[in-house]
Amino acid sequence: MVPVPKWYLGRMYSHSSLAFEITIKLIDLKITIVNIFISCNSYVYNTLLGIPRLQGDSSMYDVEKLRQQFPILSKCIYLDSASTSQTPRCSVDAMCEYFFEYAANHGRGAHHLARKTTEKYEETRSRLGDFLKVPADQIIFTKNTTDAVNTVANGTLWKRGDEIITTWLEHHSNLLPWMMLKRKGVRVTIIPHENGYLNPHTLQEAISHKTRLIALTHMPNILGTVQPVEEIGRIAHDAGVSVVVDGAQSVGHFPVDVTYIDYLAIPGHKGLLGPQGTGALYMKDPDSLNCSIFGGGMVVSVTHKVVKLLPPPAKFEPGTPNIPGIIGLGPAIDLVSSLGVKKIHAYEKNLGSRMFEGLEKIPGVSVYSPHGTGVVSFNVAGENPNVFSRKLDDHRKICVRSGMHCAEPLASSYHCEGTIRASVGCYTTTEEVDALIESVRHLTGKI
Ligand SMILES: Cc1ncc(COP(=O)(O)O)c(C=O)c1O
Repeated sequence: MVPVPKWYLGRMYSHSSLAFEITIKLIDLKITIVNIFISCNSYVYNTLLGIPRLQGDSSMYDVEKLRQQFPILSKCIYLDSASTSQTPRCSVDAMCEYFFEYAANHGRGAHHLARKTTEKYEETRSRLGDFLKVPADQIIFTKNTTDAVNTVANGTLWKRGDEIITTWLEHHSNLLPWMMLKRKGVRVTIIPHENGYLNPHTLQEAISHKTRLIALTHMPNILGTVQPVEEIGRIAHDAGVSVVVDGAQSVGHFPVDVTYIDYLAIPGHKGLLGPQGTGALYMKDPDSLNCSIFGGGMVVSVTHKVVKLLPPPAKFEPGTPNIPGIIGLGPAIDLVSSLGVKKIHAYEKNLGSRMFEGLEKIPGVSVYSPHGTGVVSFNVAGENPNVFSRKLDDHRKICVRSGMHCAEPLASSYHCEGTIRASVGCYTTTEEVDALIESVRHLTGKI
């Protein structure tokens, strides 16, 4: 087990009040008791009566009811939600409705289909604004998280000698866009982590008078360690430095407070349960960025000499966007909101703890993530992670990710061939987590 650094203890949920922490602890305790009860119950059923275990065990929200939104979940054991989540019926229905009832382009045309499309598309922006508790016009839609980070990297007016600080915890999406700026004479400083956590003190030491921006993941996709973003944001703002947070693994999984975040890169297709090809960028000050792509739908007027751009968000969204995807994202956000992000967090944390405890006990298994996160990376002695993940699929249709996870500097520091990563979603059941543990036991011959 990777120890949590001492300085980090007590900061994990620094965005939250003491009352929230106590509530979360009580909720955790309640879930644990319910889980123990259900596990005992199903054990008795399994052993004495020989019938399969029941699924669903949350006192927080009804997981069984939620799973009806995801028919695919009855066909496999999906433990790859950190990569992309499954899409609920309500989202797919909204996309079908768009295609079959009113499909047209967004922001163009006066006819009724174009008006309805624009209205529905903008509804999603308002829903996301409400969800993040920010004004909707500070949000632009993107293809994904990667696109959102690149919008900041390419939209900032850099001067030679400017410095960006990032970390060795990053996904390539929050590393390469910065590294590529070296071509423009920007200095990129990459700071180390301590067992998966960025020490705010290390960051403070690294800031110089040349530092303009800090780019940090909220939760690295290999380890699931929640970073002290609020404290880092405060340090950065005190030094006059902007903060970009990669929210790929945080938004929709736990509450994100944007007080000290200047730019938040958001996937639509992970914690928000939207379709693939959707994402967003929150900008505290949309005028701080220039547009990096140009085309139709972003101007007030164009003459041979003058181009007058529309105000944000329109000026950042030229060309026909992923209209069905963004319309499908709206009901998905509503679904996440109706479950409650705090409840999702407590539920996923509990599943993660169960996974950690089960896997760690198996001889020959090394777990790299700390206890209590819904993203668990591990390896099996003598097994290639890709080959082993295929064995899990063949054995019980268990879908996990394996390899470098597009975060090679971090992944390769644990194992030259990367890791196996199991990640839960709000719809995962304890039975699915147990199935993974039992399968790993079986495949390692430890059963
Ligand atoms: C931490 C992190 N950042 C960025 C990304 C890239 O996200 P997207 O595929 O939405 O561009 C991922 C994807 O898994 C991720 O986990």
